[in-house]
Amino acid sequence: MPYFDWNDSLLVGIKTIDDQHRQLVDMVNTLHDAVEQRGQHCPAPELVARLKAYAAEHFHIEEGYMQAFAYPGLETHLEEHQAFSAKVQTFEDACADDSANPAEVLDFLKGWLTEHITGVDVHMGRFLEDHLR
Ligand SMILES: [Fe+2]
Ligand SMILES: [Fe+2]
Repeated sequence: MPYFDWNDSLLVGIKTIDDQHRQLVDMVNTLHDAVEQRGQHCPAPELVARLKAYAAEHFHIEEGYMQAFAYPGLETHLEEHQAFSAKVQTFEDACADDSANPAEVLDFLKGWLTEHITGVDVHMGRFLEDHLR
């Protein structure tokens, strides 16, 4: 069983966004496997950089949708995205100077994605479904 098991409670109903969420879950699993293989040390920097870039792209797409339809929850949603990006950045920096705690970061990423997708993105998804019809 993977570290971060996909399940359909993570579906928000917009295909582009759901596909990207699956990718993010896959990337967390890849990071987890890399950390295990390295005896709980940081994964290869490219893997963290890849997650950072992909998450930034994903957030940009969600934010574009929300802006296009004047989504009322935009501000708080943006703040949550920034918290995720900040955590990944801190992790990247900590890996560079060897002060990182990969297990803690992985738990954060998995917990954040689960809570954000099921608690925040789903509401956006319902709103967008109504507006994209
Ligand atoms: Fe989001
Ligand atoms: Fe999302």
